[in-house]
Amino acid sequence: MYDFAPDPDLPAAERYRQLASAADALTSGEPDGVANMANIAALLWEFLPQLNWAGFYRMIDGELVLGPFVGRPACIRIPVGKGVCGAAAQSAQTQLVADVHTFPGHIACDSASRSELVVPVTRDGAVIAVIDLDSPEPARFDADDAAGVEALAALLSTRI
Ligand code: SME
Repeated sequence: MYDFAPDPDLPAAERYRQLASAADALTSGEPDGVANMANIAALLWEFLPQLNWAGFYRMIDGELVLGPFVGRPACIRIPVGKGVCGAAAQSAQTQLVADVHTFPGHIACDSASRSELVVPVTRDGAVIAVIDLDSPEPARFDADDAAGVEALAALLSTRI
């Protein structure tokens, strides 16, 4: 069993530093990308409060396909360019959405979701996956969250 016991009162930067350290320890030397994504989804869920979904979509044959996650069952395939995940995959840019109801084409996998953060994972300049975080709280995510998940995505570039 792994018990990383994140402190609920940690400031965001330190919380993400500990998350990255745990992610590094869990995925270092493990070549199986699915196992690594599964553990990272579990870590995101443990370290970050106020989430209702945390996980991956993988780029497979030009579309996003559901990967390991924690949360309610979700849409399986998302075309590039559709929804928040598709926008992140198409632009290779982080999407920070304070109110999903105002995002054109947002895909509501869980009607409880109010805000969302999607960060692309790239390898050799190509998007290979996106990390998707959903929250039932409006404006749950800020620039610290974006920076923290981007650092995680960089770590995972060669591990998923
Ligand atoms: N809301 C996402 C779809 C994925 S679920 O949130 C898990 C989107 O608009 O791309």
